[in-house]
Amino acid sequence: MRPSKDMEPAVVREYAATTDASGLRACFVELQEFERGIDPALPEGVGVADVYLERMLDRCATWDGTVFVALARERVVGFVCVWARVPPEPDEPPAPYAFVSDLIVVEAFRSRGVGRALLAEAERCARRRGAMTLKLDVMAGNPAALRLYEHVGFTRRRIEMTKALR
Ligand SMILES: CC(C)(COP(=O)(O)OP(=O)(O)OC[C@H]1O[C@@H](n2cnc3c(N)ncnc32)[C@H](O)[C@@H]1OP(=O)(O)O)[C@@H](O)C(=O)NCCC(=O)NCCS
Repeated sequence: MRPSKDMEPAVVREYAATTDASGLRACFVELQEFERGIDPALPEGVGVADVYLERMLDRCATWDGTVFVALARERVVGFVCVWARVPPEPDEPPAPYAFVSDLIVVEAFRSRGVGRALLAEAERCARRRGAMTLKLDVMAGNPAALRLYEHVGFTRRRIEMTKALR
């Protein structure tokens, strides 16, 4: 059942592995399947979830990152992962930057402000940890995400281009 707008709002808090691991995994799988709808060459979510999430959390440990989850009636309905101190490449501006690696709200809870709330929490976290820049990647074929990011102040800085060679 699709929740109505006047239902209890989702609560955003830090990820806790003991209670949230399976909810986080389910959200990642939904995110990957959503992106596979845009680019069918991507691997299936269930096949890569464990290795992807392990790497994402390892990078949180290395790059001062945090995962925030959105909870509705104790169910994880979305998450954002932010790494607060990513070291730049030699040809980039020299200061470390913050990076939002993943953002997802499960379909039934979209368009009620949860994505915006998760992103705001990630930004607050990055600011608290001293980051001066917050970056993220988004697929060109994802207008809802592009719109959200532009509404909250992100601008387009780099365009990744690909060409199929077959
Ligand atoms: C992108 C996503 C996280 C947004 O979460 P959400 O909870 O639906 O977003 P919100 O309700 O907070 O909406 C914030 C803004 O996003 C935009 N937005 C959200 N859903 C949209 C849609 N279906 N179409 C167009 N814009 C949309 C709107 O600009 C909205 O601003 P408004 O409330 O002023 O109109 C969610 O749609 C999602 O999980 N999508 C699938 C996974 C994904 O694309 N992740 C991002 C990968 S880069």
